[in-house]
Amino acid sequence: MPKRYSPPNGDVCVILHDRLHDILALASHAKQAHWTVTGRNFLSLHEFFDSVFESLTGFADELAERIAAIGGQVKATVKHVAKGSQLPDYPVDITKSDQHIEAFSKALFQLKMLVRGNVRTVAELEDDGSADLLTSMSRKIDELCWMVGAQIEPK
Ligand SMILES: [Fe+2]
Repeated sequence: MPKRYSPPNGDVCVILHDRLHDILALASHAKQAHWTVTGRNFLSLHEFFDSVFESLTGFADELAERIAAIGGQVKATVKHVAKGSQLPDYPVDITKSDQHIEAFSKALFQLKMLVRGNVRTVAELEDDGSADLLTSMSRKIDELCWMVGAQIEPK
């Protein structure tokens, strides 16, 4: 008889919370960049970081609602995010566009690798729905990595 998945799956909830906290932290980084970037490309980067913020909060919404859907209790206040995020804090003393792109792309790449690892783990935990959500998120994060990287001026 096939093993039946019965929510809540505590291990999956922990993983989804880990990424939810990272994504909400990164969304605040995107706003920090949106508010403080300066230079020749100001307008395009100002708007770009805001669009990244919108994408990330969309991912966070999907993750939080998945946690709820599998029977978990969402915990994502600012205090939970500050304590739970594995990403380094964003530098608040930078203003130049290349500094922002470098700082943001580093954290985004870290998130990308964490999400990729989680896809396999969650599939092994037999939660195909959550694995599917993470796979789709991983694809969108790949696209964001490309878009952030493409902001770097060729030398
Ligand atoms: Fe704004």
